[in-house]
Amino acid sequence: MEINRYFPEFRMTHRREFLKYLAASPLLTSYSAFAQEVEETLRERLTDPSEVINVFEMEALAREKMPPAHFGYLATGVDSDETILANREGFSRFQIKPRRLVDVSEISTSVNLLGTEAGSPIVLCPVGSQGAYHADAELGSARAAAEKGHHMILSTQSSTSVEAVAEARGAPIWHQLYATNRWENTVLMLQRAEAAGCTAVCLTVDLPGGRNTETQARMTRSDTRNCTDCHTGRLKPMFDGLDMQGASLNNAAMTWEVIGRMKEVTGMKVVIKGIEVGFDAAMAVQSGADAIVVSNHGGRATETGRGTIECLPEVAAAVNGRIPILIDGGFRRGTDVFKALALGASAVGIGRPYCFGLGAFGQAGVERVLDLLNRELDIAMRGSGTTSIEAIGPDYVHDLGRRA
Ligand code: GLV
Repeated sequence: MEINRYFPEFRMTHRREFLKYLAASPLLTSYSAFAQEVEETLRERLTDPSEVINVFEMEALAREKMPPAHFGYLATGVDSDETILANREGFSRFQIKPRRLVDVSEISTSVNLLGTEAGSPIVLCPVGSQGAYHADAELGSARAAAEKGHHMILSTQSSTSVEAVAEARGAPIWHQLYATNRWENTVLMLQRAEAAGCTAVCLTVDLPGGRNTETQARMTRSDTRNCTDCHTGRLKPMFDGLDMQGASLNNAAMTWEVIGRMKEVTGMKVVIKGIEVGFDAAMAVQSGADAIVVSNHGGRATETGRGTIECLPEVAAAVNGRIPILIDGGFRRGTDVFKALALGASAVGIGRPYCFGLGAFGQAGVERVLDLLNRELDIAMRGSGTTSIEAIGPDYVHDLGRRA
């Protein structure tokens, strides 16, 4: 049981009391002693990023260090956060099938994504407003990505300009796009991202109708600061110079022809982010997409959806190797990454995990999260007898079948 997920408004002291109550309850059967220990020792002992042993600890630290409203924005799903849970639970449907007596003394985790080289298949996915997590903001994430050899996709809603982030990364990044409902703005944003050196645009297609972020609302309620001091209504840097008066971030009228329209006005590759079913994956290929991201927006778009890892097999079958498939949603372990690569993904996106690192320690925390996940992936690869990302295929996972 992930106590933070169900009771996000409980800060450390309240949670301890609550845990005592839980100890006497049958609910405790699924609550691990590990998690309890984390709760009790975190803040006192973990003062250096190198002491953090996994992403879950980093999450708990970030929760303690960040203002509740900002952590709530990062953590929230929609309605009851069931898609978030499905993302995590989906991984247990697949088990790793290791092969033995393979020489794994040398392995490579390098990937090439649409011409972009990276030392790891783990990509920093777009997360907005990183200035709300730590003063290092997107520059900290970009510098950590550069230091550890990771590819990065920058959010339209970044707190830092695309030009500054591209410079900090020091290699081509991709730009995530909310197309807005004004085509002239879309064109200007595409031109700006391309001029900043972005080599692909990653169009988000999973939020045509708004959303209900209850976890965020609950945590904001418990924040005692005066939010209006900072939230002045100023738009994020990507909208500088654009007329957004009365415009909305998403375009509810958008259809598949948007891919062709984008290609008419940009030389960047076009990646469609937010695909969950095989039919749409085939439509993306047919409409000219250069890659897709299997994503449910980290459980922040459609509620009661499937975990993305469970969507991947049907998407991979529909794409049939024609374009690269990226995936995000609930990845917290190297073994999760391994499973996605085995099921047909070329790369795996993380969003919240690196922002937990950012919130807890700034750039150094992002670097620690990347180190942890890379190490776990390395262990999973060697442990199952695979020496390269391409070598990780469907033979390396067993599918227990759909959960009821
Ligand atoms: C932005 O993409 C968000 O999910 O808040």
